[in-house]
Amino acid sequence: MSKPLNIGMVGYGFMARAHSHAWASVAHFFDTGYRPVLKAVAARGAEKAKGFADMWGYERVETDWRKLVEAKDIDAIDICVPNDLHAEIAIAAAKAGKMVLSEKPLARTASEGQPMVDAVEKAGVANMVWYNYRRVPAVSLIKQWVAEGKLGRIFHYRAKFLQDWTISPDVPQGGQATWRLDVDAAGSGVTGDLLAHCLDTALWINGDISSLTAMTETFVKERKDATSGQMKKVGIDDAAAVMTRFANGSLGTFESTRYARGHKAGYTLEINGEKGSLSWDLHDLNRVQYFNHGVEGAARGWTDILVTDGDHPYLGKWWVPGLTIGYEHSFTHQVADFLDGLRTGKPASPTFREALETNRVCDAIIASGKSGDWVNL
Ligand SMILES: NC(=O)c1ccc[n+]([C@@H]2O[C@H](COP(=O)([O-])OP(=O)(O)OC[C@H]3O[C@@H](n4cnc5c(N)ncnc54)[C@H](O)[C@@H]3O)[C@@H](O)[C@H]2O)c1
Repeated sequence: MSKPLNIGMVGYGFMARAHSHAWASVAHFFDTGYRPVLKAVAARGAEKAKGFADMWGYERVETDWRKLVEAKDIDAIDICVPNDLHAEIAIAAAKAGKMVLSEKPLARTASEGQPMVDAVEKAGVANMVWYNYRRVPAVSLIKQWVAEGKLGRIFHYRAKFLQDWTISPDVPQGGQATWRLDVDAAGSGVTGDLLAHCLDTALWINGDISSLTAMTETFVKERKDATSGQMKKVGIDDAAAVMTRFANGSLGTFESTRYARGHKAGYTLEINGEKGSLSWDLHDLNRVQYFNHGVEGAARGWTDILVTDGDHPYLGKWWVPGLTIGYEHSFTHQVADFLDGLRTGKPASPTFREALETNRVCDAIIASGKSGDWVNL
């Protein structure tokens, strides 16, 4: 019989929906020994939270996350609120002996994230950060192939995350949907929001970054504050272009912006090695492009691989070969790995400690963007 695991969800926005979907569906597809129960959701607006709870099947609603953290019947706190709240909630949850799952970035800065790492480690509670793109099967396959040496020595790691939704100066900062533009709530702009995903995947696949230099820009200097209605200086980076050196000797280039007209969630990555290259595009997330230099003569070329077979990562748990899965499944896979980690005692990655490294790189990008200097990590 599988064990119940009672989930306390903080927030009812975009990520709370993605995570609730994952918690609700995981036990139907993955045999981890656990059965997540959507126990309670905490959010400030009781009415909206109730609507969310009804829709997803949460048993009750709290209007203060502290109630959730204190509740005897909650096993795991899932943090799906803006970045400035992650630390306080995670530390309180760990002190109360709860497992803690936090959305990314772990915190606004590494110095804010460090006490979170200390708290979960001192309490000895299971912890994880939702860098979900690792669990897109095509990306997991790339990780596996690079680790197996299919590309040989790595020369280049190249990633971009492009959007276009903040080009208008009329988009406000702060408030409900636009907290990402307020540096106090978000910590940084595209660096912590978008590039953090690219960096997490890169550190996971290609190892540590040893130094970097960055160019950042804030194209719109002032925006209306959604709460006060007053114009306020914009403190976030709207765009970042980064050059890195990895500890394995390879070179990295990373770019992120919310000013690339036509792009909505343009996350792409490409890795070039001695024996071949691999690339992936979020907009075609079930495919990997593979160039194998080992193929002889005229047949050599880029291969378009549809990652849907039973022997591809996670796919054996879903449908039959040829049938694709989507964005939401990356979260289900992450939950499955988290629950598996509880059963085996081998924590699912990235833990808070591992995700802190991404925060350190983000801090270095912001610092280098200001100074123009190379930063050693
Ligand atoms: N993994 C990913 O791909 C991904 C994607 C989007 C967002 N995120 C991260 O998820 C987190 C949430 O982002 P989102 O897009 O879901 O935001 P959102 O704006 O859609 O939702 C935020 C939620 O937080 C609630 N909230 C704000 N202050 C609160 C408080 N004091 N107490 C309780 N609830 C409060 C809001 O009411 C809302 O329900 C952020 O850390 C963000 O960086 C990750």
